[in-house]
Amino acid sequence: MFEDIQSILLTEEQIRVRVGELGEAISRDYAGKDPFFVGVLKGSFVFMSDLIRGVGIHCQMDFMGVSSYGNKSVTTGAVKITYDLNTDIEGRHVVIVEDILDSGLTLAYLQGYLGGRRPASIHICALLDKPARRRASVTPTYVGFEIPDAFVVGYGLDYAERYRNLPFIGILKPEIYTD
Ligand code: IMP
Ligand code: MG
Repeated sequence: MFEDIQSILLTEEQIRVRVGELGEAISRDYAGKDPFFVGVLKGSFVFMSDLIRGVGIHCQMDFMGVSSYGNKSVTTGAVKITYDLNTDIEGRHVVIVEDILDSGLTLAYLQGYLGGRRPASIHICALLDKPARRRASVTPTYVGFEIPDAFVVGYGLDYAERYRNLPFIGILKPEIYTD
């Protein structure tokens, strides 16, 4: 597995420090608001688990399943809900937790979809942002790291369902995903 990584973009330590800062920022901004975190499966599950342990206020969470990629490294633009929330979010302060904001198509769709359920507010917390590739207008409130236009894996992010278990975020060797 490690031999498929060209270079490490973000170390475990860099991620740990930054995710802690995001948790603190959210705790301050949402004090008294009982935020509801919505994690986008599967990529956000590692980030979510670290993020909420850095949140020091009452909160709740659930996950949604969204798929837009199949096994390809380039988006098809099609978003499909594969697993929906089990909780009513009407009147709640929703924070969508996403691993990476790339074209923005997934989050633009999800923001509209959840917005239809009349939450009090919706904000986005993305661990990674690749602004160079944006195709939909989506503005994240919290971003861990802005990264260059490279395909990255690890810390929950996959290529063809692999590499989610890497503890750091690395750039995959291009020959692995030439499809
Ligand atoms: P968007 O709809 O193009 O913004 O894509 C968001 C989704 O695409 C993320 O939740 C990831 O699952 C996937 N994705 C985008 N870029 C990468 C990457 O560099 N590595 C792994 N997954 C990615
Ligand atoms: Mg993915």
